[in-house]
Amino acid sequence: MLPMLQKCRTFEAMKRILFICLGNICRSPMAEAVMRRLVEEAGRASEFEIDSAGLISYHEGEEADPRMQAHARRRGYRLTHRSRPIRESDFRRFDLIIGMDDSNIGRLHRLSPDLDTDRKIHRMTEFCREKVVDHVPDPYYGGAQGFENVIDILEDACQGLFQWIIDNGHTLQ
Ligand code: 4NP
Repeated sequence: MLPMLQKCRTFEAMKRILFICLGNICRSPMAEAVMRRLVEEAGRASEFEIDSAGLISYHEGEEADPRMQAHARRRGYRLTHRSRPIRESDFRRFDLIIGMDDSNIGRLHRLSPDLDTDRKIHRMTEFCREKVVDHVPDPYYGGAQGFENVIDILEDACQGLFQWIIDNGHTLQ
């Protein structure tokens, strides 16, 4: 009985997820939109804070790359996020800080203030259930197929992430 009660309580606890990529105009705003749609469709949007940020400030204030927006729109996503660089306070605020590739993960570990915040850093593709990939490739200098591939991977990974939170969300407290 008690474990059941505990599980119910933790289900309602707010989960804060921050997606990270280099410029915060392609992969991480796309991940944010995919995850937001999943939690909304499940009727659980009020339990989640979902945001994204970049490791560089070069595109600060910009909307998502027009190519990413166009590919997102074809699958019914609207990208409204404006690029912002990650802040030290993000490491305290968010429960999960999820990078897209080796370079993102390495930089996040170097920026992380301490071991507690270090444990929040994850790789997007560790949540994939269908795709056999170890990173979300940067589409910025490539063609249309790269942007489609990003959405394919993120849709798989975000479903896995949502399921992981349902199963393990209580461990984030
Ligand atoms: P993102 O893609 O990290 O997925 O947002 C990029 C955006 C901008 C640049 C590189 C990657 N850039 O070099 O400006």
